[in-house]
Amino acid sequence: MSTSEKMVIVGFGWVGQANALAMKILGYEVSYFDPGNPPRHYTGHTALYDAIPRLPELKEKDSEHTWYIVCVGDRVSEDGTQDISNIQKALNSLSGVRGGVMLRSTILPDLLKNLKFDYYVPEFLHEKMAVDECVNPYLLVIGSLPHPRPEPSIFNMWRSKSRKTFEGTPHDASLIKYLSNLWNATRIAFVNEFGDMIGRPSTKEELASIAGVIDFLFDGRSYLRYGRSFGGHCLPKDSRAFAAWYGKGDVKPLLLKAMYVSNDQHRALEEKYPLMPEWYSNWPDPHISGWHALRELRHSLLKYVLNPALIAKRFTKRG
Ligand SMILES: NC(=O)c1ccc[n+]([C@@H]2O[C@H](COP(=O)([O-])OP(=O)(O)OC[C@H]3O[C@@H](n4cnc5c(N)ncnc54)[C@H](O)[C@@H]3O)[C@@H](O)[C@H]2O)c1
Repeated sequence: MSTSEKMVIVGFGWVGQANALAMKILGYEVSYFDPGNPPRHYTGHTALYDAIPRLPELKEKDSEHTWYIVCVGDRVSEDGTQDISNIQKALNSLSGVRGGVMLRSTILPDLLKNLKFDYYVPEFLHEKMAVDECVNPYLLVIGSLPHPRPEPSIFNMWRSKSRKTFEGTPHDASLIKYLSNLWNATRIAFVNEFGDMIGRPSTKEELASIAGVIDFLFDGRSYLRYGRSFGGHCLPKDSRAFAAWYGKGDVKPLLLKAMYVSNDQHRALEEKYPLMPEWYSNWPDPHISGWHALRELRHSLLKYVLNPALIAKRFTKRG
């Protein structure tokens, strides 16, 4: 791919790193800015990580061909209040840049109104498969404002790879993101509650018999398997934020509230029955596909074994 676009990832956590690695795989020049010292989250990508420099200044690469991919995290308190101050701070520091701004953080629809960006493209990745999912997004949801600036070239690449694409307002794009997370949390809680009602997984046989019933109907599909309760740092916070914001009106989020209670009840059972499988974090690491593994091997060989400086050092030591 030949493009003069420069991608600057703002916020180098789970989502930022998945975007950075994916964009590097897709052939872009990528760098990142993060005021913290985030650890590398994805194994098997040393060569790519090494090729993504950290910028000391956010605007160092600014030009009309620069795209800032904002992946800064939100926080949600126990009562469901969403705090987007870090995201707001990052966007404020981008005011006046010549480049475009693509926002990827999860933000309640109404809170998007006060933010300045060009495109809102919420992320649907799963922690363990994030890089591949960012190269080949299953869902592509693009929220744009009236008269947006010309799109980044990556949109067409993603369009050609995604199973389906939504193009609409940032508000509706955000609603789709929350709908997806609420649906995933609700499915997990429902299937677990059903399983808990029909049996106790104290032996492998009992577990297999509960799973046999559920898997027959749902074909062993993700989020529909009997196993551990949902947790992680997205489903609980996003469903809390949504329920608190939309629960202020006449229509109460009755199902959502019951979903938490049910998930907590199931978590208590997990303590007693450690055989319960963990579908959401025990996935095999899919990042190291054959091609990636070869690239990793080549990079390690060049960097640590065939590196002329290291070889000279070794010989000097021996001598
Ligand atoms: N983790 C997931 O699987 C996932 C999936 C989909 C969506 N999301 C959403 O994406 C967003 C980011 O999530 P994450 O898991 O990557 O968070 P994270 O906490 O792993 O990373 C956020 C990073 O932003 C940095 N940061 C804070 N303030 C900054 C600033 N002003 N400028 C630049 N960087 C700054 C932090 O130092 C941190 O490294 C959240 O809104 C989250 O809900 C996460």
